This record gives sequence, C-alpha cells and structure tokens, in this order.
Amino acid sequence: MSETFDLILRGGTCLTPGGAAAADVGVREGRIAAIGALDAGAAAEVFDASGLHVLPGVIDTQVHFREPGLEHKEDLGTGTAAAALGGVTAVFEMPNTKPPTVDAAALADKCRRAKGRVWVDTAFFVGAADENAEALADLERQPACAGVKIFMGSSTGTLLVPDDATLARVLANGTRRCAVHSEDEARLKERFALVEGGAPVHRHAEWRDVETSAAATRRLLALARGVGRRVHVLHVTTGDEMTLLAQHRDIATVEVTPQHLTLAAPEAYDRLGTYAQMNPPIRDAAHREALWAAVRGGVVDCLGSDHAPHTREEKDRPYPESPSGMPGVQTLVPVMLDHVHAGRLTLERLVDLTSAGPARVFGIAGKGRLALGYDADFTVVDLAAERTITDQWIVSRCGWTPFAGRTVRGWPVATVVRGRPVMRDGDLLGDPSGEAVRFQECL
Ligand code: DOR
Repeated sequence: MSETFDLILRGGTCLTPGGAAAADVGVREGRIAAIGALDAGAAAEVFDASGLHVLPGVIDTQVHFREPGLEHKEDLGTGTAAAALGGVTAVFEMPNTKPPTVDAAALADKCRRAKGRVWVDTAFFVGAADENAEALADLERQPACAGVKIFMGSSTGTLLVPDDATLARVLANGTRRCAVHSEDEARLKERFALVEGGAPVHRHAEWRDVETSAAATRRLLALARGVGRRVHVLHVTTGDEMTLLAQHRDIATVEVTPQHLTLAAPEAYDRLGTYAQMNPPIRDAAHREALWAAVRGGVVDCLGSDHAPHTREEKDRPYPESPSGMPGVQTLVPVMLDHVHAGRLTLERLVDLTSAGPARVFGIAGKGRLALGYDADFTVVDLAAERTITDQWIVSRCGWTPFAGRTVRGWPVATVVRGRPVMRDGDLLGDPSGEAVRFQECL
C-alpha cells in the first residue's frame, strides 16, 4: 500500500544526522514522516528537489526586528519576510526594542504582534536589567521566550548590565542558557575620548578594542562558573576570547556572525564607511582567521546574523553619531554557502552551526535535525547557483546590505516551515503563519 503525505520533497540530497544522502522526504501534519525512497508515495504537493540540497531549516538565533517602537527600521513582518527569502526558517529576536522586552507584558505584546504577521517561527529574548534581575527565572519560562539576553556593554538601546554585582544577580536567577553581548562598559566609557566629537570610522575597532571584549568575557566566565550558569557568548570577534572560551566548554557556548567571518579591517571601513560599523566591531584579518580556526576546531556552536537594520539616513550620520549594526538575516545563507564553495567549511559543518547547534545550545523542542518526527523545516539550496547579492533583493525595511555587489556560489531556492513552503525561487508564498518556537525546558 502506498503511503500518502501532505508534501514530498523528491530527489534531493538530504543533510541528515548521518550525513548527506540521496533521499525523498515525506511530510505529514507539519512533521517529517518518512525519509528514503518514496517512489510509491502520493502527496497533495510534490516538490522537485533534484539537483538541490535539502538542509534542516536554518535557525538564526540573533536578529533585531525593532518592533515595537523602531518600526521605521524594521518590523516583525518585514524582518521575517527577509528571513524567509534568505532561507531562514526560525529566528530568535532581541529585546532592545522600544520599550525594551523586560517583563511579561512586553513579551506577551511581541507574541500578539507576531500572530498572523511572521513568515517564520519566532522566539523572543527577554532583556536583563537591574530592575528585573529577580524576575528573570520566571520570565525565561514564558511562552515563546528564547531565554535571557544580557548587554554587558552599551550598544543600540538602553539595556545594560555593566557591573559584576548586577551581573551576578542576573546569572543567579534562572537555569536556561543566557545569551551575552560581551563588551566591558567601564572600558568603553574610558576609551570613548578616542572617538568623541568625530573620528574616522576606522577608529571604531580601536575604541571598542580587543581588550574591551576579552575583559568582559573573562569577567563573565568567572561569574558564570561561580554560580554554575550556562552562558552563550554572542558574536565573538577576537582570537583572545576563542582561546579562553575553548577552556570553558562545559559552561560556555559560542556564536560568530557571517559579517565577522567575511569582512575585515581596514578594507571594510575603507569601502563601507559607517555601514561597516557594528558592535563588537569588524576587526583585522588576523582575528578573522582566528574565528575561522575556532569554526574548524569546533569551538563555535552557532551562527547568528545579528541582523541589526538602521536606515541609510541614520547610517549616513558622521561617526560616532552613526548607529552600530548591519542587516544580515537575508544574506546569512548565501554568504555562508559561498564560504562552503570556497572550502572554508563543509556543508555538514554549516548545518551543525545553523540547525543542530542552535537546537543543542538553546534546547529547542523538535527542530534542528532532518530526522523522523522533527518539524518539517527545510532550507533548500542550489549549491551550483551563482548570483550577485544586491540592495534591490533586500526586503528588510532598511533596503541595504553590506554584501551588495558580492557574487556568491550557492543560493537558497526554497524555505519550508512546518511543511509549508513559504519561499520558492525568490517569491514569498501563502500567508505569514509562523508560530512560536518551543523549548524543551518549558514544555
Ligand atoms: O552593532 C550592533 N547593533 N550590535 C548590537 O549589539 C546591537 C545592534 C542593534 O540593535 O543595532
């Protein structure tokens, strides 16, 4: 008797936990129901994946979608449309909105806003602050909460946990893995004179220097070990921190961004000016190489795009009045596939960083593996496609990308979320019906 499915992806090369394998994938009720030769299978919809690679859905665990309060830069609709067009099936959104996401009402408000408007599955971080430190254990268990985000140094917005005493209170309240922006606020303040009143944007990496990041990561690891809390260090930019983090693998996990793996000073600042300004900064090629060594050595667990859109008008202000951040959710997959093509990492390692890694680090329920019973989230890619990334392709409200003009080999051609194709060949399909990401510790 032939089996019936809602959807079959036929003839692709599937990136399964056992490696790349030629297989069809059958989907029923939003979950993976069969992997193998499904020649006799019938389905309401058949997707011809021949010549294509079927990856478990790419999960971008760091995006800033700016809603509520900063919708002139982005909103949940435009941000998640960018995700779907870029082959991303789930996102974790950051709390530095206006107001910041620091209480249950703000989290519930984001969930309400997401309903019927998001194209991919979504979770939201709650921001740590002096005022909510004791409430975090409760907040991190709210529906759709990705966990706690700590800003140790000031970046966009007002969220900040600058001192050890507050940081220790934050880390002591809760059990889930904390995501941390690790830059030392005291050192940032001390060194601000280097850029105050105007300076070449090249000085951004001198103001927010290697020691600014390394000092914060040293403090964080000491405090996290003291209270036995697991931490996830976001967008690590220095070889110094990678050496340190490699010695703390029992409590610390590590994220890098495609921007820090791809761009380097001074070239990026020469070419892009303030459009290359982000926190922590783009550093020199020696640090970029150290990040690649950490990817190869297995120190890095996740990739996050740190999608941080700002309008051109804002970015065109003179440094340092120009805001820090670049968009990235739509370009993560093509930029990284091009690195696969160049031999800098394998496709299997990319999947480890974008699906299995996020699932392991954050304890995501039912996502991150192309395996029976998991959510039918797929990023379907054409490894042979050569395309040039353009500003015109970007649907993020900011309308620009630091990667414009870059020709890449490898492109996302379809995005499938719980069995529903939401992007095919560059077009959004159907209606936005992303749901809340679920977490094992909060089921
Ligand atoms: O460059 C950055 N921009 N780094 C951050 O940590 C925040 C982000 C933003 O929200 O603009």
